[in-house]
Amino acid sequence: MATVITIASGKGGVGKSSLATNFALRLQKSSGRALLVDSDLLMANSHILLDLQPEFDLIDVLQARCTLREAIEVVDGGLSVLAGRTGASVAIDKVEDPLQSVLSELRQLKDAFSYIVVDAPAGAGQDLINTLANSDRVLIVLLAQATSFVDAYALIKNSYLERGIAEYSVVVNMVNSERQARAVFENFSYTVKAFLPVGLTYAGHFKHRREIYESSIKCVPIVQMEDKHEQIKNFDLVLRQILHAPHNALRHDPMPLNISG
Ligand SMILES: Nc1ncnc2c1ncn2[C@@H]1O[C@H](COP(=O)(O)OP(=O)(O)O)[C@@H](O)[C@H]1O
Ligand SMILES: [Mg+2]
Repeated sequence: MATVITIASGKGGVGKSSLATNFALRLQKSSGRALLVDSDLLMANSHILLDLQPEFDLIDVLQARCTLREAIEVVDGGLSVLAGRTGASVAIDKVEDPLQSVLSELRQLKDAFSYIVVDAPAGAGQDLINTLANSDRVLIVLLAQATSFVDAYALIKNSYLERGIAEYSVVVNMVNSERQARAVFENFSYTVKAFLPVGLTYAGHFKHRREIYESSIKCVPIVQMEDKHEQIKNFDLVLRQILHAPHNALRHDPMPLNISG
C-alpha cells in the first residue's frame, strides 16, 4: 500500500511544487516506485518543472476521458507523474475532493506505488482539506513571513476543525540559516499550539538558494543535477523526518474551541 505525502501551505509561491517534484524524484530513486500527483486543477505546474507535456491530466481522469493508467506519464529516472491542469475551465468547480476516488484507486493498483507525493494547490478550502484527510502525511511549507504564518495557520485550523487532522510536519523554506528556520518553526508551533491541540514535527529547512530558483527556470529539478550533493542530502534528510513523523491517521474528533484564534 502506498504512503501518500501531501505538500501544502495555505499561501502560494512558498516552494510546494519545487519541493514536491524533488521529493518525488528522490523517493523514485530510493524505492523505484514513486508517483507525483499535481492536484491543482487550475494552476498546475509540477509537470512544467519536469519539462513534461502530458497527453492527459487529472481532469481527464475525473471526467472519464481516459483511464488513470493512461494519464500517468513516466519521466527520466522512472518517476510516474499524474499532471494537474493549467488554466482549466470552471466546469470542475464542483469536485469536492479531486483526489478522493483517484487516491483510493491508485493505492490499490496492482503494481502499487510505494510513495505518492501530492503537490497541493494553495488555499484552505474544503477540497484541499479532504485531500489532506486522504493522505498519510501532511507537510506544511512555511516561510519566515507573516503572510505565510497566517495562511498556514488558517489551513491547519480548518483541517483540524473540519476533519480532525491533528498531525503535521513543517519544513521552513527560503531561510538564511538553520538557526533562523528553527526560530521560525518554534514561533509558529508556539502560536498554533496556543489555540489548537495538534502535533507539529519539525522536518527541516531549505536555504534560499539561487540554484534552486534557477533550476525551476531551466525545468531541471535540483536533485537531478549530479553535482548538487548537499541539496540531495538535505532532501533525503527532510524526507526521512516526514516519514518518521506521526501518521495522519492519528485523527480525532475535533474538540470544541472557545477561542477564535
Ligand atoms: N529554497 C529556495 N530558494 C530559492 N528559490 C526557491 C526555493 N524554493 C522555491 N523557490 C522558488 O520560488 C518560486 C515559487 O516556488 P513554487 O515551487 O512554484 O511554489 P508554490 O508551488 O508553493 O507556488 C519558484 O521560482 C521556485 O524556484
Ligand atoms: Mg505550485
